Amino acid sequence: MKYLVTGYKGQLGYDVVRELKNRNVSDSDIYPMDINDMDITNRDQVMAKVNEIKPDVIFHNAAWTNVDGAEDMQEACEKVNYLGAKNMADAAKMVGAKIVYISTDYVFDGTKDGMYEIDDKPNPLSVYGKTKYQGEEAVRDYEKHFIVRISWVFGINGKNFIRTMLKLSESRDELNVVADQVGSPTYTVDLAKLLVDMVSTEKYGTYHANNEGFCSWAEFAKYIFESSNINMKVNPIPTKDYPQKATRPLNSKLSKKSLDDAGFNRLPNWMDAVNRYKEELINEDSIEAKILIKHRKGE
Ligand SMILES: NC(=O)c1ccc[n+]([C@@H]2O[C@H](COP(=O)([O-])OP(=O)(O)OC[C@H]3O[C@@H](n4cnc5c(N)ncnc54)[C@H](OP(=O)(O)O)[C@@H]3O)[C@@H](O)[C@H]2O)c1
Repeated sequence: MKYLVTGYKGQLGYDVVRELKNRNVSDSDIYPMDINDMDITNRDQVMAKVNEIKPDVIFHNAAWTNVDGAEDMQEACEKVNYLGAKNMADAAKMVGAKIVYISTDYVFDGTKDGMYEIDDKPNPLSVYGKTKYQGEEAVRDYEKHFIVRISWVFGINGKNFIRTMLKLSESRDELNVVADQVGSPTYTVDLAKLLVDMVSTEKYGTYHANNEGFCSWAEFAKYIFESSNINMKVNPIPTKDYPQKATRPLNSKLSKKSLDDAGFNRLPNWMDAVNRYKEELINEDSIEAKILIKHRKGE
């Protein structure tokens, strides 16, 4: 089996490649791609590369992920998230490969009471959410798809909320954090395991997959500090007091019913995931590792 992985220099792509290696897939059967190997917006290049490799599976993780930046760069964002996804889906179809497309809770407007099911009607509030949904629709046109909506991602290979909180603890002892957006974090190590499991089946369709349990950003932040022995006052604030360019859904609770129905394992609880992530972080040569070590020693 040959696996092509887009966005391998990002958070999720990096862990998908690691997971394949953990399962003893040989290096020669893994094709990690970044923009220099294959620009997903360049249709001719995508078709030629995929035709040359003829993968059995494409993990399409690459995307425009700057949510606020997208508001002023709609065309550029659409090119990556919609056209890029369409190119990857068309290339998958050309060679008969299965495709995994990673989508987002931001396809929803967050006004529903309760959890979002996979067939609830999307109504994205942001350019990013809109273009990711366009990408979904392009991929859905090809039968052999797994569309997996995730949220609030953290992984070792990139910037994320946990790294930001840890770094802020060096200069602040009090933080205002949004408390009325509720959802679930997603640890890329846990997600990568599920994605690799998925592609060994023909259980095509749309799924929601993030770590178990719900929290607000303020609760997420509090847990990061408390579990790291960092003294920080987290003040819960409403979204309206934290203006951002892109509008985010307030309710990002995703139902995992589709995972259960297909017999896939749910991801572990998000707090457990944060703890394991910090064990990864602490082994890095980074400022975040130094902060974690300092507080672990109680300095
Ligand atoms: N991060 C989140 O909180 C979040 C939440 C929900 C869903 N998602 C989705 O989850 C997936 C993975 O997210 P992530 O956090 O791992 O993303 P990430 O760390 O930002 O990585 C995305 C990767 O895509 C690459 N890329 C961008 N434009 C490209 C192009 N034209 N051709 C080829 N590669 C290109 C980027 O390369 P450069 O760095 O060189 O530009 C980067 O390595 C994405 O599909 C995202 O939409 C993310």
